[in-house]
Amino acid sequence: MRSFLGSYQFVSFLFLYLYSQAYISSCFTSSMQRPTWSHNEGQALLLFKQTLFIDYTASLLCNSNYGSPTNSFPKTDSWKEDSDFCLWDGVTCDGVTDHVIGLDLSCSWLYGTIPSNSTLFLLQHLKRLNLAFNNFGESKISAKFGQFPNLTHLNLSSSFFSGQVPSEISYLSKLVSLDLSTFSLPPVGEQEPFQELMLETTTLKRLAQNFSEVEELFLAGIDMCSVDAVHLVNLSSSLTSLSLDDCGLNGTISDRIFQFPNLKLLKLGNNPELVVYLPKSNGSSALEVLDLKQTILVGELSDSIRGLKSLKSLNVASCDLNGSIPASLVNLSQIVVLELSDNKFSGWIPASLANLTQLQHLDASYNELEGTIPHYANGFSKLVTLFLPSNLLNGTIPPWVFKLPSLQLLSLANNRLTGHISEFRSKSLSIIYLKNNMLQGHIPSSIFQLVNLTVLDLSLNNFSGIVELDMFSQLQNLESLDLSLNSLSLSSENHVDYTLTKLQSLSLSSCNLSEFPNFLRGSKVLKFLDLSKNRIQGQIPKWMWKVGKESLLHLYLDHNFLTGHLQFPWRNVVILYLQSNLFQGVLPIPPVRTSFFSIANNYMTGEIPSLICMVSSLKIVDVSHNNLSGKIPSCLLNFSQNLLVLDLRANNFHGAIPKSIVEPCSLENLNFHGNQIEGLLPGSLANCRNLQVLDLGKNKFTGTFPNWLETLPMLQVLVLSSNKFHGVVNNSRARLLFPKLRVLDLSNNDFVGPFPACYIENLKAMANLTDSRSSSKYVEGSRSYDYSVVLTIKGQEVELVKVLTIFTSMDLSNNYFQGVIPEVIGKLNSLIGLNLSHNNFFGHIPPSIGNLINLEWLDLSSNKFIGNIPQELVNLTFLVILNLSKNQLVGSIPQGKQFNTFENSSYEGNVGLCGFPLSKACNEIGMQKPTIAMKESGIGFGWKVVLMGYGCGLIFGLTGGYLIFQTGKPKWIINLVEGKQLQRGKRSRK
Ligand SMILES: *[C@@H]1O[C@H](CO)[C@@H](O)[C@H](O)[C@H]1NC(C)=O
Ligand SMILES: *[C@@H]1O[C@H](CO)[C@@H](O)[C@H](O)[C@H]1NC(C)=O
Repeated sequence: MRSFLGSYQFVSFLFLYLYSQAYISSCFTSSMQRPTWSHNEGQALLLFKQTLFIDYTASLLCNSNYGSPTNSFPKTDSWKEDSDFCLWDGVTCDGVTDHVIGLDLSCSWLYGTIPSNSTLFLLQHLKRLNLAFNNFGESKISAKFGQFPNLTHLNLSSSFFSGQVPSEISYLSKLVSLDLSTFSLPPVGEQEPFQELMLETTTLKRLAQNFSEVEELFLAGIDMCSVDAVHLVNLSSSLTSLSLDDCGLNGTISDRIFQFPNLKLLKLGNNPELVVYLPKSNGSSALEVLDLKQTILVGELSDSIRGLKSLKSLNVASCDLNGSIPASLVNLSQIVVLELSDNKFSGWIPASLANLTQLQHLDASYNELEGTIPHYANGFSKLVTLFLPSNLLNGTIPPWVFKLPSLQLLSLANNRLTGHISEFRSKSLSIIYLKNNMLQGHIPSSIFQLVNLTVLDLSLNNFSGIVELDMFSQLQNLESLDLSLNSLSLSSENHVDYTLTKLQSLSLSSCNLSEFPNFLRGSKVLKFLDLSKNRIQGQIPKWMWKVGKESLLHLYLDHNFLTGHLQFPWRNVVILYLQSNLFQGVLPIPPVRTSFFSIANNYMTGEIPSLICMVSSLKIVDVSHNNLSGKIPSCLLNFSQNLLVLDLRANNFHGAIPKSIVEPCSLENLNFHGNQIEGLLPGSLANCRNLQVLDLGKNKFTGTFPNWLETLPMLQVLVLSSNKFHGVVNNSRARLLFPKLRVLDLSNNDFVGPFPACYIENLKAMANLTDSRSSSKYVEGSRSYDYSVVLTIKGQEVELVKVLTIFTSMDLSNNYFQGVIPEVIGKLNSLIGLNLSHNNFFGHIPPSIGNLINLEWLDLSSNKFIGNIPQELVNLTFLVILNLSKNQLVGSIPQGKQFNTFENSSYEGNVGLCGFPLSKACNEIGMQKPTIAMKESGIGFGWKVVLMGYGCGLIFGLTGGYLIFQTGKPKWIINLVEGKQLQRGKRSRK
């Protein structure tokens, strides 16, 4: 190494000497007449300049993380006709001949194209050409670039060239360095991703043949998906740097590439189809930078590492690695960057890692690491980044983490860490993510002294105590602050008269906040504000209407006690969550970009202004539980293809549903429950082909069963309860009959005729339910919109929140259905609830009901069933509520399992029944003694109770959605019995 350096110094000295000699001589010549051929090169440069525009946006990438920290400025501005072109910015001349031998126009704001007749190609003596970080408008790379006979360095990276890399590039036989890399930026907004450069196998083969002296080859981001990686090992073994990340490479790279004697940098990352054979441990390699992120590795990483002693940067993120973190990493004594994220590493973090004294960046996030973080780590004195989020780490955070002298980024989020956190002694900290652990105690006061802090996220822990808002006054660099969902109390006792001017995101949900934080006053950059679930009272203060007027995108003020009339001055807002407050007055029109709009559970009055139909970006409109009235504006059901959810539940709307619903109608969730809407259902509702939830319950709809809905391919929930529907429930002879239906509620209407057996064969979603898990669908930003539907479950009105996909029930109660229940009902084996009560069904209870093994409640009361209770019902091991009362059943009650838990009330009114729990023993054969009164055990499960439930407006919001997804059975009843639900009314039972 020393001799290398020494010789380098010598060479550079020699070069300087020669250069100074040449410079002196060139000074002499330039003061005299320049030879004309040289003059022509100056003309060529000027003409080249004239074909291009200057636009600073052309070099924006130069300032991004990707660009080297070069100065970005229009270098050609200094190019003037009457001056010596050898002194122009970016131009280098040969000291003797005055030929232009170097042109560096990187980051020069150039915008335009370079066609084949460009005068650039007249500069035949060029040795170095750098046009990186400009914008050449997705034009092709001209074949002429291959015709600079002496070119050694060519850099066209990040310059928006597109199309095939011309094979003529391979004519540059003296090339030492070629950089054509492009960086695919994440698309901004709806901007089209730019066209890529492509490279074919034939070109690559020629490069391999002709570039015998090439040392650096940077081809990152070029589309090489047609290239078989096998050819790469034929590249010149003089290579020192080879970068092929993000090239869509296929095929296999053998471990020969690791034997290139001079190779220091090898980047193959982000080629998910590429198979890389790892080197054996015995070879030794000069590699300093190795990026294998998201490739398919073959071989033992822990072995290979032993031979890679010079490594300074290793990236094996997203390589599907498992087992423990290789202990052999300790051999990498030079390592600075270690990227292990997004694998399946398990076990404990090896304490020996802390011997890597040069380590600056450690990322082992998104693994399955468990156990505690090592207690001692004396070697980590240079650590700048410590990223261990999204593992299974437990125990307390060891004190060394808070003392690292150089630490800037700390993330331990999404683990199971417990205990208190120490005082922070790393003054350099800029980002702290401790979100979603089980940390407790007070927030250490030293955190408020970390003046470099830009991001602080302590949300979803058990931190407690009082935090005074004035404590943040020193954190003037803060851009994002999240303290949500702890047990904190934020207090503004002390007067706050500072503004956090850089704050862009503030989340203080569930922080016992009683007013709007004053440090937002005057903010012009706030984008995200979540103050939901606090106890903020009164009107929104006047100054607040000015905060983030242009910048605010997401506003969550739901679940507070805010009053007054609303206005929406935030021009660019996308999410407006204002539900569960005390707002009043008429409904204001949300700003034009709003997509999620909820003002549910307030005291809004008046009509829905039809102007709302102008806000075509709306996806979700939830105005439920207000005092809105009037007719539904005729445009409201499909004013935009974006509209997915329209919830008008629990208001006083009257009149009919607008008739003219035209295709395309994108609505997925339409809820009119609990209004005064009347008339027939418009058949054009069937134009809403994506409809998943249709809740029309508790209105004044008339007409017959809308069997034309049965062809809707996505319909999952159909609630027609408590209306004036009548007639026979029959199919329309269509072939697709409710293919996805899970919840059918026809209760409390005037339907007649037989049990609608025609549908049962087709209710596939109620039978053999498979896709039982799905997370919340409507997500934008950090919070999802939870759709819900109100059903009568076990005699109580229950609001089911976003759990529809695993919930299946059928309720035909309180109609005039009659006849026998067909055996075929036993096919609906995913049903959780079945209510056929208060009809005129007769005959035997079909034993096939015993096949409905998921049933949690079964109500057949107040019908005319005869015969025995089928023994098969004992199979229903999840059954919690059984009501067979008021029928004409006889014989002995089945015994065992769940039947040991039912009380008398399940059977009352069937004078012929005997056995436990009735006091009438079964050997008193067939005796009907009215005098043997059944013991009343509290209130029964009869219809009266259900009515009471309605009457009290009893609504339980089952908030256990997530829980339920995760814990499996038995589901509903646990939540009801343990009272985990948000209770907004009195319970009538228990
Ligand atoms: C290059 O060719 C185009 C037409 O193909 C012409 O418009 C342009 O003037 C030419 N430029 C030069 C510098 O000759
Ligand atoms: C290329 O380099 C060679 C050797 O240094 C030199 O003789 C020749 O003149 C150069 N060609 C051009 C066009 O500069």
